[in-house]
Amino acid sequence: MQPNLNYTKITQYIMAGNRTFTMIKPDAVRAGNIGNILQMINEAGYRIVAMKLTQLSLAKAGEFYEVHKERPFYGELCEFMSSGPIVAAILEKDNAVEDFRNLIGATNPANAAPGTIRAKYATSVGENAVHGSDSDENAAIEGAFHFGGVEKF
Ligand code: CMP
Repeated sequence: MQPNLNYTKITQYIMAGNRTFTMIKPDAVRAGNIGNILQMINEAGYRIVAMKLTQLSLAKAGEFYEVHKERPFYGELCEFMSSGPIVAAILEKDNAVEDFRNLIGATNPANAAPGTIRAKYATSVGENAVHGSDSDENAAIEGAFHFGGVEKF
């Protein structure tokens, strides 16, 4: 029997774009800002699908940020991201990836719009408080990097 392609397409359309992946980075955890950042995420309407306090090894940070391997800041980025605990989470709402990037603001806090998470809590382009996935595809890959099926609700 042929699969119902229409049904598949409709399901993909409904599911597309409704999840993103975030990390509250070591600088924000050290500064005691987990609660403040989670409150902003909550008030923006995200449902928490998965969440944990964890720490990346240097090797795991290197794997997570492999796409930046050739960039001059790669070593510094991996050292920093493995320097202390992080909060990793999968978040759900309509248009999750794009809306989350608006909520966190520009990578460099000097360019982040007032009221965004990075404008409030980031100190530099490297120590920028939070990570947010840049596409639906990367959100799925990054979420799967940190969470197994039984850890998602
Ligand atoms: P993030 O969204 O986690 O994705 C890649 C990270 O690389 C980015 O946030 C920044 O924290 C970091 N990054 C980007 N540019 C620089 C830079 N010039 N120096 C140090 N870190 C950087």
